[in-house]
Parts: sequence; structure tokens; C-alpha cells
Amino acid sequence: MRIKMEPIPEINIAELLETKRFLEAIIDGFTDQIMVVDKDYRIKEINESLIKRLGKPKHEIVGEYCYRVLHDVDKPCDMPDHPCPVQETLKTGEHCEVLHTHLKGREASYYRVTAYPVSDDQGAVSHVIEMARDITKRKKREDELSYIQKLASLGELAAGVAHELNNPMGIILGFADLLLEKMEPGSKEYEMLKIMERQGLNCKRIVESLLSFARYPETTVYSTDVNVDLKRVVSVVENILISKRITLEKSLSENLPKVKGDSGHLQHAFMNLITNAVAAMEGGGVLAVSTRLNDSGNRVEILFKDTGHGIKKEYRDKIFNHFFTTKKVGEGTGLGLSVSHGIVTKYGGKITFETVAEEEDRERKGTTLIVSLPVASSGSSPR
Ligand SMILES: Nc1ncnc2c1ncn2[C@@H]1O[C@H](COP(=O)(O)OP(=O)(O)OP(=O)(O)O)[C@@H](O)[C@H]1O
Ligand SMILES: [Mg+2]
Repeated sequence: MRIKMEPIPEINIAELLETKRFLEAIIDGFTDQIMVVDKDYRIKEINESLIKRLGKPKHEIVGEYCYRVLHDVDKPCDMPDHPCPVQETLKTGEHCEVLHTHLKGREASYYRVTAYPVSDDQGAVSHVIEMARDITKRKKREDELSYIQKLASLGELAAGVAHELNNPMGIILGFADLLLEKMEPGSKEYEMLKIMERQGLNCKRIVESLLSFARYPETTVYSTDVNVDLKRVVSVVENILISKRITLEKSLSENLPKVKGDSGHLQHAFMNLITNAVAAMEGGGVLAVSTRLNDSGNRVEILFKDTGHGIKKEYRDKIFNHFFTTKKVGEGTGLGLSVSHGIVTKYGGKITFETVAEEEDRERKGTTLIVSLPVASSGSSPR
């Protein structure tokens, strides 16, 4: 019997290699992190973006179990608050999307992870493609926005309370004035009333500052006089500075041009910087607040220089991160600088700092935060 042989199609290795290279180039072209795993969770393919995140050569990753490589565990992940999208897709045959949070120390990063099924000839799921997108920046922007919105409603509440306090304060001050007219200047009672009047005026100033502080944020870019804003903020904290034995040195440059920005927002940022300086000077010190025009005349710089403990080397690249704090639980949330940074950059400005930590040089220790804001164009409307 003669068997008729079918001609074997010629395999063009070069063409196959070219197709392979082309497919790899496609998945490497994605900035999303991609891997393909089989039913046993073994990694079959992985793209450049994920290789970069894992920091290992490709040959050490392909063939390994995904749970081992990605989560350093010995069996498929089983975390109810972090469901595995691959597991879900293998089970249901449907695509699945989850949000994952990865914590590295106090730093959180967020990933949107989607798994897609790949079916064999019989329609059963044979592989799963997992794509992870780093959405940390977007998430942080959203968090910041919701924080600012929260602040805005707090601001409204503060404005309401301040408004209610304004009237009784006015009455107290009015009667103090009337009584003072009836008292003998220099008498003990007169001096006591004078103290009451002074403290009453202090309260009135704080209430007024709160009212101007609590303006609702608007999206329009206004122009503002930073010297006026600084004076307002300083008037709120003056008494605190005295009680903490901190000497305030003000050196505000005259005739400064207005800067781009909303005065309420900028006052909030300045307040955060002053609060930080105060916190760094436990036991007292000197806080120097100054303003100046830069050499090119296109930016106004506001400097907050303290003689506090300074910022340690290992913290310097973290201080603007959300929730980074070196303060005890309950004393700081780590939002002050990140929110201030958000406000200043919104108006095209920047915040930089110079610092000498206590352990580097006890004599020269301290920190200077420098806010630099673009001068407003003549078209910007003052508020
Ligand atoms: N002037 C400063 N001197 C020394 N350290 C500072 C100064 N300003 C900021 N820091 C450091 O930066 C960290 C972050 O500051 P940030 O204002 O963001 O948060 P916080 O002050 O800790 O908390 P919050 O402002 O939310 O109450 C602080 O915990 C502190 O370690
Ligand atoms: Mg702070």
C-alpha cells in the first residue's frame, strides 16, 4: 500500500521571529503593566513596563507563579479586601476590574487592575491577560480635591460661627468702652477693663480673619497683595507666637506688584507654613517672614525662615507627599505641605526649601520655606 504524503508547508523561521518581535513590541508599547498567565498562575509573557516595576530580568519572571513574583506568597492570593482579578476571570470566564492599593512604608500607590480571558479552541479559558494601570497621581489629585472641598465646607462653618460671634463681641466691646469713660484712668478697675478691651479686640481680629479666611474657593484666578494676606495670617497667630516664645521678624518689601491667586487660598497656604515653623521651634525661636521681588521682576517671593530643628536628610524628598508627617498620631495629618503645594502650583507658583538639621549644625539649624508666585498680569482682577 502506498501512502500519499501531504506536502509539509515550509516554515519560515524568519517570518515567525518577525511576528513574535512585532507582537512583543506591541505589548511593550503599552505604558500599562501587562502579563499573561496560564490556568496555573504561571507567567507566560510580561511587558517592559511591568519588568521595570519588578526590577528583575525577564527570564527570572517568565515561568514563575504570578503570586510569588508580585505578592511574595506561596499560594494564589486570598485577600478578601484585595480580590485577585485573574482568579475571578478564571472562575467566571468574564473580564474583571479591581482597584489595588500598594503600601511601601507610608507611601501608597494605586492601580486599576483588569483581567481579560483568553479562550482555547473549545472556548474554555486557557490564559488570562492582566493589565495594571498606575492611577496614583489621579487618585491623589481626586483626594486633594475632596480635601479642599472639605476645607471649603469647614470654611463655611467657620464663617457662620465667626459671623455669630461678631455681634456679641461688638456689644461687649461697646459696653467696655462706655464703662471706661466712667472710670478713673490709672485706677485698678480702669486697667482691668483695658485688659478686657484689648483681649476683646484680639477676639474681634481673629473673628475677622476667620471670616476672610473662609471665602469659598473659586476657580477664577484673581490677583492679590501678598503683604496684605501675610499681615492677615500673622494677626491670627500673633498671640500663639508670643505664648510659644517665638519672636516674629517681619520684613515686607514695599510696592510689590500683585500676584496671581486667590487671597483666601494663599492665606491658607501661608498659615500652613507658619504652623509648621511654629511646630519646629518647641521651646522658642525666631520666625522671619519676608517678601521680595525676584531679580527679573516677574515673581514675588515670600520667605518663612525659622530657627527650628530643621528637616532630616532622609525626610527631605518626602515632605510634600500627602500624609507624610513626623508628628505624633493626633498632632499632624501630613497634609499641610501637600495642600499648600497644590494651592501654590495652581497659580503657577512653586514652593522650595532650604534646611539645616539640628544634627548637622546646632548653631545654624532651621528651615526656610520659599513660596514664589508669578506677578499678575494687568488684566487679572483683584478680589
Ligand atoms: N518648618 C519646618 N521645620 C521642620 N520640619 C518641617 C517644617 N515644615 C515641614 N516639616 C516636616 O514636614 C512634615 C510634613 O509637613 P506637613 O505640613 O505636610 O504635615 P504636618 O505638619 O506633619 O501635619 P499637618 O500639617 O497635616 O497638621 C512635617 O511633619 C515635618 O516633619
Ligand atoms: Mg503642617
